[in-house]
Amino acid sequence: MKILVFEKEEYLDAYVGEYICHFIRNHSQPVIGFATGSTPLGVYRYFIDNYQAQKVSFRQVKAFNLDEYVGLTPSHPRSFASAMKNELFSHIDILPENINALDGSKEDMIQECQRYESLIDANPIDIQILGIGMDGHIAYNEPGSPLDGACHVVDLHQESIESSLDYGFDHIEDVPTQGVTQGIGTIMKAKQLIMMAKGEKKADLVKRMIYGEVTSDFPSSIIQRHPNVIVCLDRSAASQLK
Ligand code: F6R
Repeated sequence: MKILVFEKEEYLDAYVGEYICHFIRNHSQPVIGFATGSTPLGVYRYFIDNYQAQKVSFRQVKAFNLDEYVGLTPSHPRSFASAMKNELFSHIDILPENINALDGSKEDMIQECQRYESLIDANPIDIQILGIGMDGHIAYNEPGSPLDGACHVVDLHQESIESSLDYGFDHIEDVPTQGVTQGIGTIMKAKQLIMMAKGEKKADLVKRMIYGEVTSDFPSSIIQRHPNVIVCLDRSAASQLK
């Protein structure tokens, strides 16, 4: 595991942004896994700026979103599909047919999960962007999720529901109580993971993720077992590391 600590958030964003742009420029069919949430937003702005400056094109990129709320259609304004569209995809030249996501509004979610897992198997993810949730989750793999799990539906924990208020829901009752997510096993199939964390509130979690026991009680600890992972932290998120 490579751990990089950046003095300022914008340096972190530029590092991860440029790392991925470099990869995209040098591969004919790059497959990138995208996370929603607040942590990667600066990286997505970096992508947009570089696209507008004609320094990178996303035409050959295949995208896979990490997770979604169950019960929201992809076009629902609070869906993760809409968030990715608004924050990134609608501002770059990625082809709509290359954007892949779990659809939380399908009647048969088991079939939807199998469809997505097979699609990922057919298009192995080169670089997966990740953040860490306040209960240690990655994607929507909540504590207790199997470490080798495939895409699945999950009951969201209270911390995750409360964190969703940061994503534009006005009332806690409006937040879906279930998510659908790439499993930990799905995520571990990606060739490289880039885990990002920012801010003091993530410091304890980052310490446990890097030095704690690898356990399904703290799903992000699984990254310790991935052969190719870069952890990118700002000073505050790294403040509990020795
Ligand atoms: C989002 C996702 C989540 C977030 C995590 C951190 O697709 O998979 O695991 O990465 O909840 O969220 P933020 O970045 O908002 O702190």
